[in-house]
Amino acid sequence: MDWLQTSARLMIVSDLDHTMVDHHDSENLSLLRFNALWESNYRHDSLLVFSTGRSPTLYKELRKEKPMLTPDITIMSVGTEITYGNSMVPDEGWVEVLNQKWDAKIVKEESSKFHELELQPDTEQRPHKVSFKVDKDKAHVVTKSLLERFEKHGLDVKIIYSGGMDLDILPQGAGKGQALAYLLKKFKTEGKLPNNTLVCGDSGNDAELFSIPDVYGVMVSNAQEELLQWHAENAKNNPKIIHATERCAAGIIQAIGHFSLGPNTSPRDVMDFLHFKLENVNPGHEVVKFYLFYERWRRAEVENSEPYLASLKAACDPSGVFVHPSGIELSLFEIIDSLRSYYGDERGKRFRVWVDQVLPVQISPDTWLVKFKKWESSGGELKCCTSTAILSSKDATTVSDGLTWVHLHQTWFKELASKDHSTWPV
Ligand code: GLC
Ligand code: MG
Repeated sequence: MDWLQTSARLMIVSDLDHTMVDHHDSENLSLLRFNALWESNYRHDSLLVFSTGRSPTLYKELRKEKPMLTPDITIMSVGTEITYGNSMVPDEGWVEVLNQKWDAKIVKEESSKFHELELQPDTEQRPHKVSFKVDKDKAHVVTKSLLERFEKHGLDVKIIYSGGMDLDILPQGAGKGQALAYLLKKFKTEGKLPNNTLVCGDSGNDAELFSIPDVYGVMVSNAQEELLQWHAENAKNNPKIIHATERCAAGIIQAIGHFSLGPNTSPRDVMDFLHFKLENVNPGHEVVKFYLFYERWRRAEVENSEPYLASLKAACDPSGVFVHPSGIELSLFEIIDSLRSYYGDERGKRFRVWVDQVLPVQISPDTWLVKFKKWESSGGELKCCTSTAILSSKDATTVSDGLTWVHLHQTWFKELASKDHSTWPV
C-alpha cells in the first residue's frame, strides 16, 4: 500500500464468500473477469480491500482454493483483524480500540450456558470474536438474552447473525463497518481519502458496510434475506446502494458501471482483444491482454492463425529477451514461434492463467518496469512465478496499447516452488 502516494482512485471493500467468490461457479469465471478488470485498469492507482468473516487460517485456505487476487488490505474475523500488504502486518492501533469493554473469557463463560449455541471450530475463535452456530428461529431470542447478560458484566458487545446460521459476538467497536470507518479516518488524516469507495456484500455481517457515510454499495444478486431485510428497513432510499442483478463478482463489475466509478469492461469479455485499444498507454492492460491471449491459445479458444503470432511479434522488440525460470534465455521472437506447438495443448483441462499485483513503475519518459505474479492452473495443479517486464512506448506499432515488450524475466514464486518444474513457453 505504501506505493500509493496519493488518494486511491477507487477503493473496493469486498466480502469474500458468496460476494467476491462464487462457490457455485466451479469455473470461477466471474472472479477471473473481475481479476482481469482490476489488474488492467485499477491496480496501479486504486486499493483492493477484502473484508471477510473468516479467520486468518480459513482465509488462507480460501486463497489456495480459488484464483483470488492479493488485496492491499485484509480485514478478517468480521472486522476484528486488520492487516496490510503481502506480509499481512497487523494494525496494532485497531487492537487497542477493540480491547475496550471486552472480555473474551466472560463472553465464552456466559454463552456456554446456552444449549442452543454450538461453538464453531477453534480456528474461528479469535481474540475479539467468539463464534457459534444457531438455528434461524432461535437466533433472535438468544441474542436478546445474551446481550442482557453481558451488560450485567459491564461489557459492551455486538452480536451479528449471518448466512442464516452464524452468530458472532464481538466488541461493540468491532465489525466490518467500524473497521472500514477506522481505515477511512486513517486515510483522511494522511490526506489520502479515496476518491470513491465501493462496498460489496451478501450477508448479515456486511450490513454495517452499507451504513458508512458517502460510500457506494452493491448487494450482489444472490444476497441473503437478512441483508435485504436490513436494507429494506434501514437504507431503502439511499441511491448509492444497489441490489445487483448479477451474482457475486459479476455484480461488483455491474456496480462499477452503474455508479460510473471507472472502466467496467473486463478484458475477458473482449474477444478481439489484440485490436482492443485503450485511450491511454497502460502497461497493466498490456500484461493482462498478453496472458489472456496465452490462455486462449492453449485452450484453443482463438483461431490457430499466423496473423495472431505476427501481431504478437509486432508488439515485441526484435532484440527483446525472455528469461525462463529455469534460467534459459531466448529471444522474444523465438518464444512466440514456440507457441505454435502449444496450440490447444490445454484444451479441456480447465486451464486458466491470471496475473496478480501488476505494478508498473515508469523508469524513463517512454519505459516502464512492470512487476507481477503470473498464475497458471491446470487440472487442479497451480504454478506461479514472479515476473519482471520492461515495456517501451518508443518504437511502438499500432497493434498494442502503444507499447513494445523489451524484456521479460520470470523466477519461481518461493511459496509455490513446484516439485515438478515442468516448462511452459511464457
Ligand atoms: C465466516 C467465519 C465464521 C463467521 C461467519 C459469519 O464463515 O468463518 O466464524 O461466523 O463468517 O461472520
Ligand atoms: Mg459472504
